[in-house]
Amino acid sequence: ELPKLVIPKAVPQPEEVDDGTKKVTIFFGTQTGTAEGFAKALAEEGNARYEKAKFKVIDLDDYAADDEEYEEKLKKETLAFFFLATYGDGEPTDNAARFYKWFTEGKERGDWLKNLQYGVFGLGNRQYEHFNKIAKVVDELVAEQGGKQLVQVGLGDDDQCIEDDFAAWRELVWPELDQLLRDDDDATVATPYTAAVLEYRVVFHDKPEASVLENGSIHANGHAVYDAQHPCRANVAVKRELHTPASDRSCTHLEFDISGTGLLYETGDHVGVYCENLIEVVEEAEQLLNMPPDTYFSIHTEKEDGTPLSGSSLPPPFPPCTLRTALSRYADLLSAPKKSSLIALATYASDQSEADRLRYLASPSGKEEYAQWVVANQRSLLEVMAEFPSAKPPLGVFFAAVAPRLQPRFYSISSSPKIASSRIHVTCALVYEKTPTGRIHKGLCSTWMKNAVPLEESPDCSWAPIFVRNSNFKLPADPKVPIIMIGPGTGLAPFRGFLQERLALKESGAELGPAILFFGCRNSKMDYIYEDELNNFVKDGIISELVLAFSRQGPTKEYVQHKMTEKASDIWNMLSEGGNIYVCGDAKGMAKDVHRTLHTIVQEQGSLDSTKAESMVKNLQMTGRYLRDVW
Ligand code: 2AM
Repeated sequence: ELPKLVIPKAVPQPEEVDDGTKKVTIFFGTQTGTAEGFAKALAEEGNARYEKAKFKVIDLDDYAADDEEYEEKLKKETLAFFFLATYGDGEPTDNAARFYKWFTEGKERGDWLKNLQYGVFGLGNRQYEHFNKIAKVVDELVAEQGGKQLVQVGLGDDDQCIEDDFAAWRELVWPELDQLLRDDDDATVATPYTAAVLEYRVVFHDKPEASVLENGSIHANGHAVYDAQHPCRANVAVKRELHTPASDRSCTHLEFDISGTGLLYETGDHVGVYCENLIEVVEEAEQLLNMPPDTYFSIHTEKEDGTPLSGSSLPPPFPPCTLRTALSRYADLLSAPKKSSLIALATYASDQSEADRLRYLASPSGKEEYAQWVVANQRSLLEVMAEFPSAKPPLGVFFAAVAPRLQPRFYSISSSPKIASSRIHVTCALVYEKTPTGRIHKGLCSTWMKNAVPLEESPDCSWAPIFVRNSNFKLPADPKVPIIMIGPGTGLAPFRGFLQERLALKESGAELGPAILFFGCRNSKMDYIYEDELNNFVKDGIISELVLAFSRQGPTKEYVQHKMTEKASDIWNMLSEGGNIYVCGDAKGMAKDVHRTLHTIVQEQGSLDSTKAESMVKNLQMTGRYLRDVW
C-alpha cells in the first residue's frame, strides 16, 4: 500500500501583482471621514514600510457595482483591512450599507474567503448601545467564511480618544505584516516610521469662480439621482419658530421646496443638509492662514505625472474654487482638532516652542493634557490655530491634514410625501452654547436654519444642497396595526411625518389601528412644539392617545419613560396585539432609559423573568417591530 500523500494545508499568501509587489486592500466605511483618514494613514505607512507591497485605499461603495461584483472581487483578495464605523442604532455608514447588507444577508457561501488574511478596525462610541457592532459582525463573518484573522478586531471608542485606539491597534498589525511582506532574506528590523503629513498638490489659477451647483445627474430614465456626492439644490420655502417667546431656546421648522427637482422621499427618511460656515468663522480662518479670500486654486490627489499621492486613488474632495468658498463649504473649522491635525500644524510651525508644544499635545505623554486642553475645553481648530500663530500650513496641507471635510448634517424628515410631496420638512433645535473657554459655539446647520430667508419672505431666498437618506423607520404596511410612538423634543419629527401619512391614509378610506404618542418637553408654555397640530391629530382620530411629559413644569421631572410606566398595561396590550413600537431622539440618555423601561414593562406585564423579557424585546427588534431613530 502506498503511503498516503500528506497535502500540506495551504497557507494563504498575499497575491503578487504583475510587478512582483504584494497587494493590500484597505476598505473603509466612513461617515465623517475618520475611518477614511485611518485607512489612508495605514496605507501611507504600509507603502513607506514595505518596498514590495502596494497598499490601496478603497471606498466600499466604489469597490463593486452590485452584489455579484462584490463576491467576484472579494474572492480574489488575499490581504485586506476593513475600517468600519457604526452609527445610530447599530447601523453601517452610508457608503458601507450596500456591502454590509449583501455580506450579512447573503446566502451560504462556505469558506469562499479562505485565501484572505484580514484585519478589522471599528469606529464607534461606547456610550451607544451597539458599540462597534458593524466591525464585530464583519470580523466574525469573514472568519466564519474562511478568512484568516491577522489581528484581533480593533474597537475604536470615540468617547475617549479614537486616534489612540487606532495607534495601538496599528502596532499589532505591523509585526504580522512584517512576516508577510518582508523578504525572507531581509533581516533588518523595520525602522521606526514617522508618518508623513498628508498633502494635496495645489495648483493656483487666475480663473474666475465656477458657477453654482447644478442640479442632479440626470439618468437615462429621466430621474435625477441625488446622494451625498450629488446633492440637490433646494430653496427654503417656509421657516417658522416653534418655541414660544417665553422660551430661552429656539427650534426651527423649515420647509425645503423640492418641486421639479425629481428628489423623492418616504415618510421616516432622513435629509442630509450641507451648510456653509458662518462668514465670521471663514474670515477668521483666512486671517489665520494669512491668505487672501479670492485665492483661486484646485487640489489634486495625484502627482504631476499622474501617479497617486499617498497610495490613495480617491478623487479630490472638492472642485476648483476660491479660498473663501473652500473654507465656507468644505472645511470643518469648529470641531476640536485631531492629534494628526496638531502634528500637521507642528510641521509648519516656524516657532520651535510652538512646534514642540503641538507635538507634545499629540504624543502619548501629552495624552491627559490633550484630553483636557483640547477635548474637554471644546477648543475648536481655529481656537487652537490662534494659540499657535507661527503654524501656517500651506493649503495642500491644510485641506488634507489639518481641517477635516465639512460634513452634511442629517435630520429626520418631519413631513410625509403623502401630504407634502413637494416639500421636505425639518424640525431643528438650535445649538447655541458657551464652551469652557468662553467661546460661543453656534451650531453650523441649526444657526443657518434659524437665519434662513424663506421664499415667502423674499424671492432671493436661502437654499442648500440636500439629499435624502433612506431609513428603516417606517410605519407598518397594514395601517390597522397598533403603533406606540415615543419622541420627546425634536424626536417628535418623524412622528409628525407618520401622523401626516396616517391622515392621508384615513382620508383615502383606510381604517386606522390605535396609535399612542408619548411626547416630552420642558414646559407646555415654552417648547411644546406643534401643539396645535397634535391636538388636531387627536381630534381627527389620527392619534388615539397623546401622552405628555413636562420635565420642568411641576415639582418633579416627568419624562416620557415615566409616562410609559403609567401606561404599562396599554403598551403591553398593543404589543400583544402585534403592535409596533418606535423611539426617536437622543440615544445616549433617553433611548437607553426608554429601552430599560420597555424591558421592565414587558417583564412585569407579561410576568416573565428578566431573560425571557430580554429575548422578547430582542425579538421585537429582530422582526422590525421595535424601531429606533436615534442620534
Ligand atoms: P430636561 O431637559 O428637563 O432634563 C426633550 O429634550 C425632553 O427630554 C426634555 O423635557 C428633557 O428634559 C427630556 N429628557 C432629558 N433627558 C432625558 C432622558 N434621559 N429620558 C427622557 N427624557 C429626557
